[in-house]
Amino acid sequence: MNFNDITDMLRDPDSEAWLLKKADETRREYCGEDIHVRGIIEFSNICKKNCLYCGLRAKNSEVRRYRLTEEEIVAAAEAAASMDIRTVVLQSGEDDYFTVDKLASIVRAVKKAGVAVTLSAGEKTREEYAALKAAGADRYLLRFETSDPDLFAMLKPDSSFENRFNCLKWLKELGFQVGSGIMVGLPGQSYETIARDLLLFRDLDLDMIGVGPFIPHPDTPLGPTPRGNIDLTLKVVALTRLLTLNAHIPATTAMGTIDRLGRQKALQCGANVIMPNVGPLKYRKDYSIYPDKICVNDSAEHCSGCVSRLIESLGRKRAKGFGHSLKKS
Ligand code: 5AD
Ligand code: SF4
Ligand code: FES
Repeated sequence: MNFNDITDMLRDPDSEAWLLKKADETRREYCGEDIHVRGIIEFSNICKKNCLYCGLRAKNSEVRRYRLTEEEIVAAAEAAASMDIRTVVLQSGEDDYFTVDKLASIVRAVKKAGVAVTLSAGEKTREEYAALKAAGADRYLLRFETSDPDLFAMLKPDSSFENRFNCLKWLKELGFQVGSGIMVGLPGQSYETIARDLLLFRDLDLDMIGVGPFIPHPDTPLGPTPRGNIDLTLKVVALTRLLTLNAHIPATTAMGTIDRLGRQKALQCGANVIMPNVGPLKYRKDYSIYPDKICVNDSAEHCSGCVSRLIESLGRKRAKGFGHSLKKS
């Protein structure tokens, strides 16, 4: 599939049915029927950055800010492990309170619960990533958000496009399983932009790829912008599967937020991972990267049961084990 094939398929509404079916078949062939469940713990909503799309941006004073303690994080990870969730994803804003020493201590403590650990805590130096790897972190998520350098500079005024890709390169060199991804429906994003995003997913040889619709947050500069479209997002998930074959692809919470059955639809056109929130209920609604996020009033136990039923309803199986990258032996 080349650049023109991809833009043609993104543009043509009649390609959707074929594309989604082909991606479902490719997922079955390369990943099987297993759906991997990862428990997300959103451990701090404090962020020093001001990404234009994100509700947690530093300048948004409407957010009630919180940090979990190491004890709260470990308790959530242990509870997840007791629900047979064998990966926890520790996600936060870019919060300098959590120094690498603190994060390393948290990683070591969480690993004792017998789970794989994925970190999603933004841009760091190579040395910092190395220390986190040494502490036992298995995976790292860092979406590049868009392959268009000008759009990136507009959306992320305090990040550098070049540094973001350096981070991804360092993470890979250090032996992390690396995840990245984009939002679909960003203002100024064209079919050509998305085609370049997709080709980058393939060229970066990513272990995990998260794709979700952009959802405007009213308390951000992009508040008045239209949201991403579900059908286009599903097509991007499908093309991601066709281009990367065995990468882990989550049915994102953002998909479930714009469409009641969004996650189910994603799992039927290429996705093979679902990531319920397993953090403490009392902070859920404060992690408001976008509005109307699902599950903000549902406990970890409830969401764990809910995803099990969701998996069953699709005739699929809940994966056993850690669910490491299918690209590693
Ligand atoms: N809509 C959808 N996704 C968003 N993210 C941040 N803000 C929004 C939004 N308004 C995504 C980014 C980020 C991930 C954690 O959440 O892609 O990398
Ligand atoms: Fe901070 Fe991440 Fe939101 Fe940007 S996307 S403002 S870095 S939490
Ligand atoms: Fe949270 Fe369904 S996953 S209620």
